[in-house]
Amino acid sequence: MCCLLPPVARNAARGAKLSNKMKSDVINMMKWRAQKTTQSLIELLSLGLSLLIFLPFNIKKMAIICQPPVTNLTLNPFCCILRVILTMSVILQTNLPFSLARRGKVRDVYDLGDKLLIVSTDRISAFDYVLPCGVPEKGRILNQLSAFWFKKTAHIIPNHLITAIDNLDAVQDLIASTPTVTPSTPNETASHPTVIARSEVTKQSQRKRDSLPTPGTSLVGRSMLVAKAHRIAVECIVRGYLSGSAWAEYKQSGRVGNIRLPSGIEENQELPQHIFTPTTKSDVEHDRPLTREDVTELGIEHLMAEMEQKSLLIYRFAQDYAKTRGIMIADTKFEFGLINGKLSLIDELLTPDSSRFWDASQYKVGQFQHSLDKQPVRDWLLASGWDKESPPPMLPPEVIQATTERYNKIYSLFTKE
Ligand SMILES: Nc1ncnc2c1ncn2[C@@H]1O[C@H](COP(=O)(O)OP(=O)(O)OP(=O)(O)O)[C@@H](O)[C@H]1O
Ligand SMILES: [Mg+2]
Repeated sequence: MCCLLPPVARNAARGAKLSNKMKSDVINMMKWRAQKTTQSLIELLSLGLSLLIFLPFNIKKMAIICQPPVTNLTLNPFCCILRVILTMSVILQTNLPFSLARRGKVRDVYDLGDKLLIVSTDRISAFDYVLPCGVPEKGRILNQLSAFWFKKTAHIIPNHLITAIDNLDAVQDLIASTPTVTPSTPNETASHPTVIARSEVTKQSQRKRDSLPTPGTSLVGRSMLVAKAHRIAVECIVRGYLSGSAWAEYKQSGRVGNIRLPSGIEENQELPQHIFTPTTKSDVEHDRPLTREDVTELGIEHLMAEMEQKSLLIYRFAQDYAKTRGIMIADTKFEFGLINGKLSLIDELLTPDSSRFWDASQYKVGQFQHSLDKQPVRDWLLASGWDKESPPPMLPPEVIQATTERYNKIYSLFTKE
């Protein structure tokens, strides 16, 4: 204790003979210390009090604000604890006691024999990179919107959906009927190379099977049980409007993928007819237009015509439906697989991650569109000066929050009765 005091106070504490000047110095120092201690105590108390009042109502908002690594916060143990509590509202990775088949850029896929459990996390990707932050509620919205569209389009083509896990009973049934395995470590080879691991680790395997395990709540709303498909590694893109990378390509070459378009089309203009521009789907290189050689190599010559026909049909159906909700679907992408030898839709369907959604009431050719999708995130990344080669930057809190709001808005526009 003594060594923490300044020399003058140390002398005093040791009972040294002091001059009047030194005595008053010591008294002043003691007063100053007392003042500081009281001030710190008051600060700590008011912080604790405001946290108690603030947390229950604003936990989601605060999670967004505190998510980026603010370095001065991390030095403060109190703020460290706060960040740990708050980031719990974002699920960036799951580690459930099932065999992990794959970690995609957004979804964690577990192998349950002839079925898969697909858990949509709150990860967000852009330009083939997974960003180092999550978007609250994103996984739940993607999962439920996909389930909504799978049910709505089932008359056009079968899909992989068995059941969306939207209640605790469904989770319990699933766990009871599935053999558990030791949760895999975050570095397993199934991970997408750009997935940045931050785990929402669960200790479910050590718990009793007959009680609902802790991760139940993290599965609810963001998971679906699907039929395992023989995946066709092609991104089946359909475009009704000329936007994004297609616009850039058209400006340069007058083509989009393998299709030559008439000259004079403006940015975001409606195309004379819907076009099908499939690309490769690769973990190691950026997607590129699918060539005849790719089709041969994948052994899907006999499936291409059906994939094109179904893609165009689903797009038209969804576009017509979206119109009634004041939304334009500029473009979207589908993934197909074979289930019992039948071409079926898999993965996600007509979500703001896989589609461009525009507010129809504000649409203007050749201009900026009011997007209800991931586009503003891409725009922010492009404007940030990021080189698309190095690890992507953290999104600012307001961009994250706006993304949650847009995803929620599109979900309710599509699904409200
Ligand atoms: N029914 C299914 N059967 C087999 N695989 C599926 C099925 N549904 C989805 N998948 C695969 O699961 C993965 C889902 O992960 P996610 O969508 O996050 O990946 P991604 O962003 O498409 O990136 P990538 O697949 O290139 O890693 C995809 O690879 C998808 O092809
Ligand atoms: Mg995908």
